[in-house]
Amino acid sequence: MIEALKADITALHVDAIVNAANESLLGGGGVDGAIHRAAGQELLEYCRTLGGCRTGEAKLTPGFALKAKWIIHTVGPVWRDGKHGEPERLRSCYRNSLHLAMHQGARTIAFPGISTGVYGYPKQLAVDIAVEEMRARESEFERIVACCFSDEDLALYQARLSRP
Ligand code: APR
Repeated sequence: MIEALKADITALHVDAIVNAANESLLGGGGVDGAIHRAAGQELLEYCRTLGGCRTGEAKLTPGFALKAKWIIHTVGPVWRDGKHGEPERLRSCYRNSLHLAMHQGARTIAFPGISTGVYGYPKQLAVDIAVEEMRARESEFERIVACCFSDEDLALYQARLSRP
């Protein structure tokens, strides 16, 4: 099942939450800052040992103080004009995150709108990619959550999920 929810991703009871990180994996603003604050200092200490993460790739850490058992950190592309590999990289964030979660045995997972904040990816285009990739792996999970932070984002996901 894929569902769109309006929620703070740090509060969700799922096996894994996905973080929209940057290549350093050492924290930042937006959802990344919220996740680091909620997971606690131990997350940053663990992340220092990972050697960063390339755009489009994903790395796993424990959830520390979060309810989620794991955090999957992925790095979305910075939007330029859509002709610099942004769609392929965003797609690979979803694909690699879902793959890592499956490999770890996660049955429930929640995603924020990767790249759609500071990184400027147009929301509708990002929702189309997210839903396509979630649907491709839907059968491997009990629940995949598109965690939205605004009513506007929730409406975009709901509209997209109502179409084949
Ligand atoms: N729960 C769910 N979603 C959230 C939360 C939260 N607590 N906080 C923010 N969001 C939403 C934003 O509204 C946006 O739709 O997450 C989406 C992604 O926005 P950003 O966090 O800005 O991520 P991104 O666009 O991928 O930019 C990544 O931001 O701070 C940094 O370290 C991060 O440099 C990296 C950049």
